Amino acid sequence: MSNSKSDAAIQNSGIPVYHVPVLLKEAIDGLCIKPDGIYVDCTFGGGGHSAAILQQLGNKGRLLVFDQDAAAKKNLPHDDRVTFIPENFRHLQRFLRLHKVLQVNGILADLGVSSHQFDQADRGFSTRFDAALDMRMDQRQGITAADVIRDSTTHQLHKMLERYGEVTNAKTLAATIVQQRALAPISTINEFKLAVKAAVKGNPQKYFAQVFQALRIQVNDEFGALQEMLLQIPALLLPGGRAAIISFHSLEDRIVKVAFKDKERWEPITKRPQEPTEAEVQKNSRSRSAKLRVARKVQ
Ligand SMILES: C[S@@+](CC[C@H](N)C(=O)[O-])C[C@H]1O[C@@H](n2cnc3c(N)ncnc32)[C@H](O)[C@@H]1O
Repeated sequence: MSNSKSDAAIQNSGIPVYHVPVLLKEAIDGLCIKPDGIYVDCTFGGGGHSAAILQQLGNKGRLLVFDQDAAAKKNLPHDDRVTFIPENFRHLQRFLRLHKVLQVNGILADLGVSSHQFDQADRGFSTRFDAALDMRMDQRQGITAADVIRDSTTHQLHKMLERYGEVTNAKTLAATIVQQRALAPISTINEFKLAVKAAVKGNPQKYFAQVFQALRIQVNDEFGALQEMLLQIPALLLPGGRAAIISFHSLEDRIVKVAFKDKERWEPITKRPQEPTEAEVQKNSRSRSAKLRVARKVQ
């Protein structure tokens, strides 16, 4: 995913908007919303997808929304049909039960981080600012990017940078980090950039975007959370219920693809993942790497 501020995330006034929803129509159409149904948005963020779900829900419909980032709460609409659950979607089933919801008609997840998270300098997600190396979506969680850089072994750093960031010289960068952290602590973005300067290959902006993506995925255990959520959703969906998942990383898409391959549980609605149109990419560069997969729970 791009680490730059997306064009569409800037209003005419120049004030950044919280987030511009990606593949909005495609995802909502994929859910095939029943007006009286119960729906879950696992990744509420700026609430763009949720607003579109609410538009199609009647008075008896219900929407439960998850976001592990407390900042998302300010985007909640004043709407009795909505319940906000400020938790990681890896605990989907547990928290739905807590709200006395056992089965639902549809589940949506729009993975990764919001533009707002990138644009808040102090969250440490963006290479554009100097700040503490944080990158936690859930600030109640203990492990920050600085902790990962300080405590991981060379091998762990190497594999993380290779898998999650597709960093071409991951081994060299991992060795550089370990060498440099022994000389001085690395706790801010600028300290990190300076410490690994000699290992940077190609365009530094692109290079650091890949490195930061890897750190972010690791800090938030994004693929682990996705796998746990995908394991829970067949039991949570009513027969005929639908799951729509938007991913931004090839490994993430692979995890979704593998989960939906189980023919005993799923009938694919999108045979191949749906991607944004050129017009959407033009308007919102963040949508560039998005892939939507939709599946229907078999009867
Ligand atoms: C791409 S944004 C979603 C944007 C939203 N669809 C919209 O239209 O504004 C992803 C959001 O999901 C949240 N998130 C990511 N992973 C999560 C997880 N495992 N559990 C709960 N929330 C998560 C992030 O904090 C972020 O606010």
